[in-house]
Amino acid sequence: MTELAPVNADITLQQLDRDPFPIYKRFRAESPVLRVQAVGRTLLTKAVDTRYVKEHPTLFSNDDPNTPMKRAFRAHTLMRKDGHAHQRERDAMQQTFHPAVIRDEWAPRYEAIAEDCVSRLPRGEVVDLFQALSGPYAARGLAALLGVDEAHDADMQRWSQCLIDGAGNFGWQDEPFARSDSANDEMDTLFDSLQARHKAQPNPSAFSVMLNADDPIPLSQIYANIKIAIGGGINEPRDALNTILFGLLTHPDQLAEVKQKSDWGKAFEEGIRWVAPISVSSRLATEDTEIRGFRIPKGDTVMTVQASANRDEDLFDDGESFNVYRDKKPHQAFGNGPHFCPGSHVARRAIAQIMLPLLFECFPNMRLPDPAAVPWRGFGFHGITALPVHLA
Ligand code: HEM
Repeated sequence: MTELAPVNADITLQQLDRDPFPIYKRFRAESPVLRVQAVGRTLLTKAVDTRYVKEHPTLFSNDDPNTPMKRAFRAHTLMRKDGHAHQRERDAMQQTFHPAVIRDEWAPRYEAIAEDCVSRLPRGEVVDLFQALSGPYAARGLAALLGVDEAHDADMQRWSQCLIDGAGNFGWQDEPFARSDSANDEMDTLFDSLQARHKAQPNPSAFSVMLNADDPIPLSQIYANIKIAIGGGINEPRDALNTILFGLLTHPDQLAEVKQKSDWGKAFEEGIRWVAPISVSSRLATEDTEIRGFRIPKGDTVMTVQASANRDEDLFDDGESFNVYRDKKPHQAFGNGPHFCPGSHVARRAIAQIMLPLLFECFPNMRLPDPAAVPWRGFGFHGITALPVHLA
């Protein structure tokens, strides 16, 4: 009989929230399969293991009843489904993410939104780009893509945060669920009011595509999956943009080369490799199995740490550093397997092809006055929480 993985009883959630990377580095070296008490899960920190788990969905299910996600969303979203049930709901919004639709519909929309956001930025001042740019840009673009254009940017961001806080409420406290309940009520009211428009004027937005399908999924699931996209489609592009800006502004030599060669796509991939916006994902073992010779009992929840996989020494030389021109290797920031992020191409287009070149063209001399003071945080989602940049 193989042994269970070792236990770590020291690391706290606060430590993982503030500065997880040195901890992951140690875990990779000492115990890549580790039952971390503070998290209540078995953490996997090596790239080969995180990929293996996500690529074997019958052995590692997304349908984990132990997470507060269902309660937060008041629904069983596609993200927590497996097999045919998952595929059916994912397919229902697939047309929205089709490359031709991204090119013809979303790219011009994102361009207009980017120009509007950038034109509002003051010149010659220090501005928090999290508040003034990356948050609103992510929210506005997503609202268009999902067909909820009527939602205010601030509401989109608040709903997203309430859903995330509810889904991460592992202590099952009342307050985060009260906030996610209010957000759900507001979103339901908005979605109810939008049905007539989408029925009268079918369009490529996710809401319209799902609503007007020949064989639509239930309306409750349409709502649930728009909500999962709101919960999972704002933070990541926002945090990715902030991270890439931080990486480039703290590495002027790389920035100069990126500008000269228009290597914005490479900068994007390196930014999300370096700090994966979604750091971890949970999967439930459906039967007794093994990873790296350790027993993973049926019913155990493993956590794939893609933030760590993306810095794995087996794949990346000096993975702790931001280096746009490192040897190209596959990162896992968009996940793997059947739940691979459907928004990956939209995100690449919106950030690498639209926002980054536009921003650096308008503000060629922008600089980060105090990189050491830039705050980073988050365990499930890790990113910058304020990015004061001098715009010039
Ligand atoms: C840089 C930007 C983004 C990153 C890094 C990112 C990352 C991810 C990751 C890692 C997953 C898989 C989670 C898992 O395996 O459990 C995922 C799933 C998902 N993402 Fe993204 N995402 C980004 C942008 C977007 C955007 C713009 C949308 C727009 C709608 C989106 C919608 C979704 C949805 C709906 C899922 C669930 C897919 C499923 O369960 O089948 N994401 N994303």
